[in-house]
Amino acid sequence: MKVAPSILSADFGNLQRDVEEICNAGCDLVHVDVMDGHFVPNMTIGPVVVSSVAKVATKPLDVHLMVEDNNFFVDLFAPLKPEYISFHIESENHPHRLIQKIRSYGIKPSIVLNPNSRPEELEYLIEFLDMVLLMSVNPGFGGQSFIDTVIPKAKKLKAMIEKINPDCLIQVDGGVSDKNIQLLKDAGVDVVVAGSYVFKHENRKAAIESLQI
Ligand code: DX5
Ligand code: ZN
Repeated sequence: MKVAPSILSADFGNLQRDVEEICNAGCDLVHVDVMDGHFVPNMTIGPVVVSSVAKVATKPLDVHLMVEDNNFFVDLFAPLKPEYISFHIESENHPHRLIQKIRSYGIKPSIVLNPNSRPEELEYLIEFLDMVLLMSVNPGFGGQSFIDTVIPKAKKLKAMIEKINPDCLIQVDGGVSDKNIQLLKDAGVDVVVAGSYVFKHENRKAAIESLQI
């Protein structure tokens, strides 16, 4: 299991220290939550701050857009060369076109599903994707409880992926901890995002390692 700590739960007054700490602790990706105050009722960081994160991170960036205008934000973040850009299916009228645009920047495209969205919506998109991100909380805030309907959803998605594009990864984001990691692994999940579990833990390295099962 790969682990992408979400810097949403980091100390923004000590962002360099926290990003270096999780990278040195052996995380696999650095998850960056981008919120516009429209698609979700919260705002986070833009490309100015994320470019400083990119300079100190020794692991690839994993950008999760929670925005209405995906095109605009893809253009804004692509120059920072993240490994992945994920956008929500619920906010995009032309997902196939946007996937092509992300790939044209040399970045791996990923689509996010909110807790109520159905994996079947991706049936004709999976072959073009490097990853699908399943939300296990409502997007917008860290520290929420895990919605466990993501487990049967991940199993259903895994069966679709195995048929259509076995290289496509499944990522789960929200409320992930040592309490649900085995269930996620058994459901076929490849990558987990963890914010509060990692950053509030007294030993962040041990927290990351407890998820890398
Ligand atoms: C929620 C974000 C998550 C969040 C996860 O909108 O997408 O990445 O930071 O935080 P935890 O792990 O605390 O639920
Ligand atoms: Zn996220």
